Amino acid sequence: MSAINVEIISQLEDNYAFVLYDNTREACIIDPAESMPIIEYLNNKNLKVKDIFITHHHKDHTSGIEGLIKNFPQVNIHSPNPQIENSRFILQNNDEVESRINSFKIISTPGHTLDHIVYYDDDNKILFSGDTLFRLGCGRVFEGTLNQMYSSLQKIKELKNNTTMYCGHEYTINNLNFLENTLNKKVLYNDVRQKIESDIKVHDKSIPFHLDEEKSYNLFLNQESQIGELVKHELKLGNFELFKYLRERKDNF
Ligand SMILES: [Fe+2]
Repeated sequence: MSAINVEIISQLEDNYAFVLYDNTREACIIDPAESMPIIEYLNNKNLKVKDIFITHHHKDHTSGIEGLIKNFPQVNIHSPNPQIENSRFILQNNDEVESRINSFKIISTPGHTLDHIVYYDDDNKILFSGDTLFRLGCGRVFEGTLNQMYSSLQKIKELKNNTTMYCGHEYTINNLNFLENTLNKKVLYNDVRQKIESDIKVHDKSIPFHLDEEKSYNLFLNQESQIGELVKHELKLGNFELFKYLRERKDNF
Protein backbone atom coordinates (compact mmCIF):
# COMPACT_ATOMS: atom_id res chain seq x y z
CA MET A 1 0.00 0.00 0.00
CA SER A 2 1.35 3.41 -0.91
CA ALA A 3 1.42 6.29 1.52
CA ILE A 4 -1.77 8.21 1.90
CA ASN A 5 -2.03 12.00 1.60
CA VAL A 6 -4.57 13.99 3.56
CA GLU A 7 -5.48 17.41 2.20
CA ILE A 8 -7.37 19.65 4.61
CA ILE A 9 -9.95 21.81 2.82
CA SER A 10 -11.29 24.84 4.69
CA GLN A 11 -15.07 25.06 4.50
CA LEU A 12 -17.64 27.65 5.58
CA GLU A 13 -16.45 29.70 8.56
CA ASP A 14 -14.38 27.22 10.54
CA ASN A 15 -15.19 23.73 9.18
CA TYR A 16 -12.76 21.28 7.67
CA ALA A 17 -13.37 18.65 5.00
CA PHE A 18 -10.69 16.17 3.99
CA VAL A 19 -9.51 14.70 0.70
CA LEU A 20 -7.51 11.48 1.07
CA TYR A 21 -5.60 10.21 -1.94
CA ASP A 22 -2.59 8.16 -2.97
CA ASN A 23 -0.38 7.93 -6.04
CA THR A 24 -2.99 5.90 -7.94
CA ARG A 25 -4.96 9.24 -8.12
CA GLU A 26 -7.92 7.63 -6.36
CA ALA A 27 -9.45 9.76 -3.61
CA CYS A 28 -12.10 9.72 -0.93
CA ILE A 29 -13.69 12.63 0.91
CA ILE A 30 -14.74 13.16 4.50
CA ASP A 31 -17.48 15.58 5.65
CA PRO A 32 -17.93 17.87 2.63
CA ALA A 33 -19.75 21.12 3.50
CA GLU A 34 -19.03 23.05 0.29
CA SER A 35 -18.51 21.13 -2.92
CA MET A 36 -16.81 23.85 -5.03
CA PRO A 37 -13.44 24.10 -3.23
CA ILE A 38 -13.28 20.29 -3.07
CA ILE A 39 -14.07 19.83 -6.78
CA GLU A 40 -11.47 22.45 -7.63
CA TYR A 41 -8.86 20.60 -5.59
CA LEU A 42 -9.78 17.21 -7.12
CA ASN A 43 -9.60 18.62 -10.66
CA ASN A 44 -6.29 20.38 -10.06
CA LYS A 45 -4.77 17.17 -8.78
CA ASN A 46 -6.52 15.04 -11.40
CA LEU A 47 -8.09 12.85 -8.70
CA LYS A 48 -10.96 10.40 -9.14
CA VAL A 49 -13.36 10.12 -6.22
CA LYS A 50 -15.43 7.05 -5.46
CA ASP A 51 -16.35 7.38 -1.79
CA ILE A 52 -17.62 10.04 0.61
CA PHE A 53 -17.64 9.37 4.36
CA ILE A 54 -19.84 11.32 6.78
CA THR A 55 -19.36 11.55 10.57
CA HIS A 56 -22.82 12.83 11.58
CA HIS A 57 -25.97 14.43 10.26
CA HIS A 58 -25.26 18.15 10.85
CA LYS A 59 -25.55 20.18 7.66
CA ASP A 60 -22.08 21.70 7.98
CA HIS A 61 -20.71 18.18 7.44
CA THR A 62 -23.05 17.06 4.64
CA SER A 63 -24.15 20.04 2.53
CA GLY A 64 -21.42 19.44 -0.05
CA ILE A 65 -22.75 15.98 -0.94
CA GLU A 66 -25.21 17.20 -3.57
CA GLY A 67 -22.67 19.20 -5.58
CA LEU A 68 -20.18 16.34 -5.47
CA ILE A 69 -22.75 13.85 -6.77
CA LYS A 70 -23.50 16.20 -9.68
CA ASN A 71 -19.82 16.22 -10.64
CA PHE A 72 -19.07 12.60 -9.74
CA PRO A 73 -22.34 10.67 -10.27
CA GLN A 74 -20.70 7.34 -9.46
CA VAL A 75 -19.74 8.37 -5.92
CA ASN A 76 -20.92 6.26 -2.94
CA ILE A 77 -22.06 7.95 0.28
CA HIS A 78 -21.19 6.14 3.52
CA SER A 79 -22.85 7.49 6.66
CA PRO A 80 -24.14 6.46 10.08
CA ASN A 81 -27.72 7.59 9.38
CA PRO A 82 -30.17 6.70 6.57
CA GLN A 83 -31.68 10.19 6.91
CA ILE A 84 -28.49 11.76 5.58
CA GLU A 85 -29.19 12.55 1.93
CA ASN A 86 -28.12 9.95 -0.62
CA SER A 87 -26.65 7.61 2.01
CA ARG A 88 -25.98 4.30 0.32
CA PHE A 89 -24.00 2.40 2.95
CA ILE A 90 -25.00 2.76 6.61
CA LEU A 91 -22.12 2.28 9.03
CA GLN A 92 -22.20 0.99 12.60
CA ASN A 93 -19.81 0.57 15.49
CA ASN A 94 -16.94 -1.84 14.70
CA ASP A 95 -17.69 -2.00 10.97
CA GLU A 96 -14.66 -2.15 8.71
CA VAL A 97 -15.15 -0.18 5.51
CA GLU A 98 -12.83 -0.02 2.53
CA SER A 99 -12.26 2.83 0.13
CA ARG A 100 -10.10 2.38 -2.96
CA ILE A 101 -7.05 3.58 -1.04
CA ASN A 102 -7.46 2.60 2.61
CA SER A 103 -9.72 1.00 5.17
CA PHE A 104 -11.45 2.50 8.17
CA LYS A 105 -12.64 1.01 11.40
CA ILE A 106 -15.87 2.67 12.52
CA ILE A 107 -16.13 3.78 16.14
CA SER A 108 -19.55 4.92 17.32
CA THR A 109 -19.21 8.08 19.45
CA PRO A 110 -22.67 9.31 20.51
CA GLY A 111 -22.90 12.56 22.47
CA HIS A 112 -22.65 15.53 20.12
CA THR A 113 -25.30 13.72 18.05
CA LEU A 114 -26.68 10.23 18.57
CA ASP A 115 -25.54 9.08 15.13
CA HIS A 116 -21.94 10.32 15.40
CA ILE A 117 -19.15 8.00 14.25
CA VAL A 118 -15.42 8.54 13.85
CA TYR A 119 -13.20 6.97 11.20
CA TYR A 120 -9.98 5.24 12.29
CA ASP A 121 -7.39 4.01 9.79
CA ASP A 122 -5.09 1.68 11.70
CA ASP A 123 -2.62 1.15 8.82
CA ASN A 124 -1.97 4.87 8.48
CA LYS A 125 -2.68 5.69 12.17
CA ILE A 126 -5.08 8.50 11.38
CA LEU A 127 -8.41 9.40 12.94
CA PHE A 128 -11.16 11.65 11.60
CA SER A 129 -12.96 12.74 14.74
CA GLY A 130 -15.71 15.01 13.32
CA ASP A 131 -17.33 16.96 16.15
CA THR A 132 -16.52 14.44 18.90
CA LEU A 133 -12.93 15.45 19.65
CA PHE A 134 -11.41 18.83 18.87
CA ARG A 135 -7.86 19.91 19.60
CA LEU A 136 -7.97 20.79 23.33
CA GLY A 137 -11.73 20.35 23.41
CA CYS A 138 -14.71 18.22 22.52
CA GLY A 139 -18.05 18.74 20.79
CA ARG A 140 -21.02 20.27 22.53
CA VAL A 141 -23.45 17.61 23.79
CA PHE A 142 -26.59 18.27 21.73
CA GLU A 143 -28.39 14.94 21.43
CA GLY A 144 -26.74 12.46 23.76
CA THR A 145 -25.92 12.59 27.46
CA LEU A 146 -22.73 13.73 29.18
CA ASN A 147 -22.17 10.08 30.10
CA GLN A 148 -22.36 9.05 26.46
CA MET A 149 -19.94 11.78 25.38
CA TYR A 150 -17.53 10.82 28.16
CA SER A 151 -17.56 7.15 27.07
CA SER A 152 -17.13 8.16 23.43
CA LEU A 153 -14.04 10.20 24.28
CA GLN A 154 -12.65 7.27 26.30
CA LYS A 155 -12.81 5.13 23.15
CA ILE A 156 -10.66 7.69 21.32
CA LYS A 157 -8.28 7.92 24.28
CA GLU A 158 -7.61 4.19 23.95
CA LEU A 159 -6.30 4.43 20.38
CA LYS A 160 -2.57 4.21 19.72
CA ASN A 161 -0.57 7.15 21.03
CA ASN A 162 1.01 7.87 17.66
CA THR A 163 -2.39 8.47 16.02
CA THR A 164 -2.66 11.68 13.99
CA MET A 165 -6.02 13.38 14.51
CA TYR A 166 -8.13 15.44 12.12
CA CYS A 167 -11.17 17.19 13.58
CA GLY A 168 -14.15 18.96 12.04
CA HIS A 169 -13.62 22.53 13.22
CA GLU A 170 -10.90 25.09 13.93
CA TYR A 171 -11.80 25.85 17.55
CA THR A 172 -8.34 25.35 19.07
CA ILE A 173 -7.47 28.87 20.26
CA ASN A 174 -10.88 29.28 21.89
CA ASN A 175 -10.47 25.88 23.57
CA LEU A 176 -7.00 26.84 24.80
CA ASN A 177 -8.24 30.17 26.18
CA PHE A 178 -11.05 28.32 27.95
CA LEU A 179 -8.72 25.81 29.62
CA GLU A 180 -6.25 28.50 30.68
CA ASN A 181 -9.00 30.66 32.16
CA THR A 182 -11.04 27.92 33.79
CA LEU A 183 -8.18 25.93 35.28
CA ASN A 184 -6.07 28.92 36.21
CA LYS A 185 -2.99 26.95 35.11
CA LYS A 186 -1.76 29.20 32.38
CA VAL A 187 1.89 28.41 32.92
CA LEU A 188 1.26 24.67 32.39
CA TYR A 189 -0.18 25.47 28.98
CA ASN A 190 2.81 27.59 27.86
CA ASP A 191 4.43 24.87 25.76
CA VAL A 192 1.28 23.80 24.00
CA ARG A 193 0.28 27.44 23.32
CA GLN A 194 3.65 28.01 21.66
CA LYS A 195 3.23 24.91 19.55
CA ILE A 196 -0.34 25.78 18.51
CA GLU A 197 0.58 29.36 17.65
CA SER A 198 3.47 28.11 15.55
CA ASP A 199 1.23 25.53 13.77
CA ILE A 200 -1.22 28.30 12.90
CA LYS A 201 1.55 30.63 11.75
CA VAL A 202 3.08 28.01 9.46
CA HIS A 203 0.01 26.13 8.17
CA ASP A 204 -2.76 28.65 8.84
CA LYS A 205 -4.47 25.94 10.90
CA SER A 206 -3.89 24.00 14.10
CA ILE A 207 -4.64 20.55 12.72
CA PRO A 208 -3.67 17.79 12.43
CA PHE A 209 -2.59 17.07 15.99
CA HIS A 210 -1.39 14.03 17.90
CA LEU A 211 -3.07 11.81 20.44
CA ASP A 212 -0.13 11.59 22.83
CA GLU A 213 0.13 15.37 23.17
CA GLU A 214 -3.64 15.66 23.37
CA LYS A 215 -3.70 13.23 26.29
CA SER A 216 -1.38 15.56 28.22
CA TYR A 217 -3.39 18.76 27.72
CA ASN A 218 -6.99 18.01 26.74
CA LEU A 219 -8.82 17.41 30.02
CA PHE A 220 -12.06 16.61 28.19
CA LEU A 221 -10.25 13.60 26.72
CA ASN A 222 -8.00 12.57 29.59
CA GLN A 223 -8.39 13.47 33.24
CA GLU A 224 -5.41 11.36 34.31
CA SER A 225 -2.62 13.55 32.93
CA GLN A 226 -0.35 15.52 35.27
CA ILE A 227 -2.54 18.60 34.87
CA GLY A 228 -5.69 16.49 35.25
CA GLU A 229 -4.51 14.97 38.54
CA LEU A 230 -3.59 18.42 39.85
CA VAL A 231 -6.99 19.89 38.99
CA LYS A 232 -8.95 16.90 40.31
CA HIS A 233 -7.07 17.14 43.60
CA GLU A 234 -7.76 20.88 43.93
CA LEU A 235 -11.44 20.63 43.01
CA LYS A 236 -12.00 17.27 44.71
CA LEU A 237 -13.48 15.78 41.57
CA GLY A 238 -13.25 12.34 39.93
CA ASN A 239 -12.59 11.75 36.23
CA PHE A 240 -16.17 11.98 35.00
CA GLU A 241 -16.95 14.89 37.36
CA LEU A 242 -14.04 16.87 35.95
CA PHE A 243 -15.24 16.20 32.39
CA LYS A 244 -18.77 17.32 33.39
CA TYR A 245 -17.43 20.41 35.18
CA LEU A 246 -15.51 21.48 32.08
CA ARG A 247 -18.18 20.63 29.50
CA GLU A 248 -20.86 22.56 31.43
CA ARG A 249 -18.65 25.63 31.81
CA LYS A 250 -17.55 25.50 28.18
CA ASP A 251 -21.19 25.78 27.07
CA ASN A 252 -21.22 29.30 28.51
CA PHE A 253 -17.69 30.39 27.67
FE1 LIG B 1 -21.82 18.98 14.40
